[in-house]
Amino acid sequence: MKYMTAEPFRIKVVEPIRKSTKEQRQKWLKEAQYNSFRLKAEQVYIDCITDSGTCAMSQNQWAAMFHGDESYAGSSSFYRLEESVKDVFGMPYLQPTHQGRAADYIMSQIYCRPGTYAIGNMHFDTFRGNAEILGAIPVDFAIEEGQDASSEYHPFKGNIDIEKMNQLIKDKGPENICVVIITITCNNNGGQPVSLENIRQVSELAGKYNIPVVIDSARLAENAWFIKQREPGYENKSIKEITREIFSYCETATMSSKKDGLVNMGGLFVTRNHDVFLKANQLAIVHEGFITYGGMSGRDMDALAVGLQEACDEQYLEYRINQVKYLGDLLKERGIPIIEPTGGHGVYVDGRRFFPHIPQHQFPSQRLVCALYEEAGVRAVELGACAFGTKDKETGEPIWPKLETMRIAISRRVYTDSHMQVIANALGDIYENRDQYKGMKLVYEGPILSLRHFTAGFELL
Ligand code: F0G
Repeated sequence: MKYMTAEPFRIKVVEPIRKSTKEQRQKWLKEAQYNSFRLKAEQVYIDCITDSGTCAMSQNQWAAMFHGDESYAGSSSFYRLEESVKDVFGMPYLQPTHQGRAADYIMSQIYCRPGTYAIGNMHFDTFRGNAEILGAIPVDFAIEEGQDASSEYHPFKGNIDIEKMNQLIKDKGPENICVVIITITCNNNGGQPVSLENIRQVSELAGKYNIPVVIDSARLAENAWFIKQREPGYENKSIKEITREIFSYCETATMSSKKDGLVNMGGLFVTRNHDVFLKANQLAIVHEGFITYGGMSGRDMDALAVGLQEACDEQYLEYRINQVKYLGDLLKERGIPIIEPTGGHGVYVDGRRFFPHIPQHQFPSQRLVCALYEEAGVRAVELGACAFGTKDKETGEPIWPKLETMRIAISRRVYTDSHMQVIANALGDIYENRDQYKGMKLVYEGPILSLRHFTAGFELL
C-alpha cells in the first residue's frame, strides 16, 4: 500500500533518450576528463545533474505562453505574473530577473558591504560568489545534524543554529552583520527543509538588531510541503497559507524559478520594502531589462505565472516528494548510505561511507559520479571535496569540507519510477563491488577556485 499513488499526470509528448554501451561511456568520460559537466547531454541516458530548468511544463503552461505579451514596458504577462507571485509570496513588489543568480546579484548589491558577515544555513554558490566579489563574508550556520551526512533523522536539517547566529552577532556587533539568508530548502545538505519555527526565531533575532532577512526560495513549495507533513500545527493549512507565513518573516525573497516555478528559465526578486524595490529596479534596468520584464520574455512570464500555482498543488507535491523518497528507499534496501531523511529534490549519497577506503583528497564522491555514469549512463553531480573544497588564503593548503556527497537530482515531472529503479540497480551493483574502486587525482582546476567543479579535470588512480 506504500506507493499507491502514481504520477498525477499522463504523458502527451515524449522526448527520446538513448542508451549507450559501457565502452562508449568509458571513452566519453575520459574525453570529458572525468567531469560530468563536460559530457554532452546526448551521451547521457538519465540526467540527474540538476533539477534546475529541466522540468516538464504542463499543457496549461504551454497554452499560457500563447498569451505572452512581448511589450517592452507594462506587458500584460508581467501583471499576470505579479498576481501569481503576490498570491504565493504575499509580498507586494516584484522585479523579474532572467534566472536565480541575477536575483542573487541584485540582492547582494543591495545588502552586502565589504568586511561584513552574511549569515545563512548554507549559502548557494552563486550568492557566495557575489558576496565574495563584494568583500562580504558568507558564513554557514546550519544545525549540527545538517552538517553531517551520517547524522540521524531530524525533520528540519536545513534549520539555522540560533545559538551560533546569536554568538556571531555578539562577537562582531550587529552593525557588522549585513544580512541573514535562509535557503529553503537547503540545497547543499540534501534539499533539507527549514521549519517555520526556525524561520520565525531567526527573523525575531535579526529583527532585534535591525538585520534584514532574505529568503532564497528556489524550492519554496517543497519546503512548505515538509512543514505541512512534519511541523505540528500546520497539518491542516494549505500550501499557500504556509508559503505566505514563511515570507511574512522576511524583507526580501529571491527565487530561481527554474525549480519550483516549474519553468525552464526565470527568476524573481520580491520585496516588501519600497526603497529596496526602487534600487532593485535600477539594477535590473542596467543588468537585466526593464522593470516589467527583467530579462524574461512575456511568454516565459506567463508560463511561470501558471507554474508557480501548479507547484503549490498538493497532489503534485505528494507525487514529487514521494518519488524522491522512493529512490531513497530503493537505495537503502541495497544498503547504500544516504542523507536521511531524503529531501525535496534529490537523493544525496554519502561518499565517505560508500567508499570508506578512498580518502577525501582522492575525491570519493566524484569517483562515485563517474562509476554511476560508467555503469548506467546516469549523470549525477559531486557536492564534496571538489565543489566545496577551498584553500587556506595564506598557505594555499587545501581545506576539505564536512559534507562529502553525490547528489542525484530529480527533475520535476520528467522521469518515471522505472528510471528510479535503473539508478538504484546500477548503484546497488557498484556498492557490491565498492572495494575495487580507487580514487581520483585532480589535474585541472580552472581559473576560479569556488567554481572549479564546473571546469575541473581528473585522472583515475
Ligand atoms: N539558489 C539556490 C538555492 C539554487 O539551488 C540555485 C541554483 C540558485 C540560487 C541559482 O539559480 O541557477 O537560476 O541562477 N541551483 C542549481 C542546482 C543550479 O543545480 O542546484 P539559477
